[in-house]
Amino acid sequence: MPGGALKTERQAGDSRVLEIEDLRIEFETGAQAVPVLDGVSLDIGSGETVCLVGESGSGKTVTALAIARLLPCPPARYAGGRILVNGRDVLRMSARELRTIRGRVVSYVFQDPAVALNPVLRAGAQVRETLALHRPEAAHNDEVISLLRWVGIPAPELRIRDYPHQLSGGMQQRLMLAMALASHPRLLVADEPTTALDVTIQAQILELLRALRRQLNMSVLLITHNLGLVGEIADRVVVLYAGQIIEEAPARELLSRPRHPYTRALMKSVPELGRDAPRLDAIPGSVPRLGDWPAGCRFHPRCPMARPDCSREAPALASVAPHQRVRCRFWDHAP
Ligand SMILES: Nc1ncnc2c1ncn2[C@@H]1O[C@H](COP(=O)(O)OP(=O)(O)O)[C@@H](O)[C@H]1O
Ligand SMILES: [Mg+2]
Repeated sequence: MPGGALKTERQAGDSRVLEIEDLRIEFETGAQAVPVLDGVSLDIGSGETVCLVGESGSGKTVTALAIARLLPCPPARYAGGRILVNGRDVLRMSARELRTIRGRVVSYVFQDPAVALNPVLRAGAQVRETLALHRPEAAHNDEVISLLRWVGIPAPELRIRDYPHQLSGGMQQRLMLAMALASHPRLLVADEPTTALDVTIQAQILELLRALRRQLNMSVLLITHNLGLVGEIADRVVVLYAGQIIEEAPARELLSRPRHPYTRALMKSVPELGRDAPRLDAIPGSVPRLGDWPAGCRFHPRCPMARPDCSREAPALASVAPHQRVRCRFWDHAP
């Protein structure tokens, strides 16, 4: 770990809930260790919503799972860097300390209800179980019903008796949200929470997320491959490509003036209203396979602006304005 450059652990009172510094993660495949995240640094302030975007395979879920050290090791290996949650490095925590973080300080919502919901447990019992784990004093039906009402589930006093399969996709997603919020987490990590839903329901869930995070003063890391969603909810956007951050900016700035050619291409691939599948063909080629990252700029083989230099020299993530970083030497050239 490049220890000298890293800051000391933060004091209580720091407003940053999450601070990832130069995170490196590898996967062991056979005798080889293949890098998956290559020096990722990102911060989330108290009450702030940050969107992490990028095509499938860019490393978004690996980043998300790393925050509560949920990656299976092996095959994963934390090869360097730090992940500070409330100023404490989760990579150095004991198993006991980790349990106090997981679900309580950092909680998760995933895309697939099948992963998070127990098919043989009624909705009410699932929420009560989560409460019993994190807020035992509140593990009673009244609190369960008010949580379900809070996330917009109609007639919650009836729905608590339903099994997950009796709920629609949107209601299952709300139930997962209720479980994730039951502990009043400081940071909610939502990994493509709406991808499986139709666009109207997606918008409703995002609207709900926006309202809830205000009420709880909760920070949110929202992961999506759809840049069209981020304007609705994000304060800041971080764009990931082949295990590296290639652009980071305040949401409004990024949407009105994307600087990296990849971000511009991503914006062109935003799904049209009423269509669920992104037009991935808007970006020629595909994300390079693990262990097969091109030399120089990793995006150069797909980049409409690539020059001979781009295949030789790896660009640094450079500050181009306050709170704005871009990993492209030609970011200020016209597309
Ligand atoms: N358990 C694993 N073993 C080996 N490779 C993995 C594992 N999990 C993820 N990967 C690889 O890591 C890369 C990043 O994956 P992921 O973070 O899931 O991407 P994203 O969420 O952006 O679609 C992908 O190439 C994926 O195949
Ligand atoms: Mg993913």
